Amino acid sequence: APPGRHEAEDALISRGAVESNHPGFSGRGFVNLDNTVGSHVEWTVDAPAAGTRSLSFRFANGTTTARPMDVSVNGGPPVSVNFPSTGTWPAWQTITISAVLRAGANTVRATSATANGGPNLDYLDLG
Ligand code: GCU
Repeated sequence: APPGRHEAEDALISRGAVESNHPGFSGRGFVNLDNTVGSHVEWTVDAPAAGTRSLSFRFANGTTTARPMDVSVNGGPPVSVNFPSTGTWPAWQTITISAVLRAGANTVRATSATANGGPNLDYLDLG
């Protein structure tokens, strides 16, 4: 895997399951979060130095409705990230945001913001 790749199935999962029934994922599968507000995945990523980095989320949303998530770094203020329809569940796309990280371990938590839950999450790439 490329440096900086963090599989969702290896992260902390609250109200969700690791599944592999839709192809095209990286690693052993992807996370299907429960369709409820608050279901989340939390990655821990290591940064050699403090500074602004890119966070790229690979996801699929086979519905026609966007699935916003609140992304919080180190428990800080959530940033809303909208995960649009990708058409079908095996169709994966990537969304990139930037975030300020500190040196050392950082948590990146993506929390479902609506009762539809989040998209299926494949990985987080730290750029
Ligand atoms: C379907 C799909 C799942 C997806 C779910 C959802 O059940 O197979 O992969 O997570 O819809 O709406 O979240």
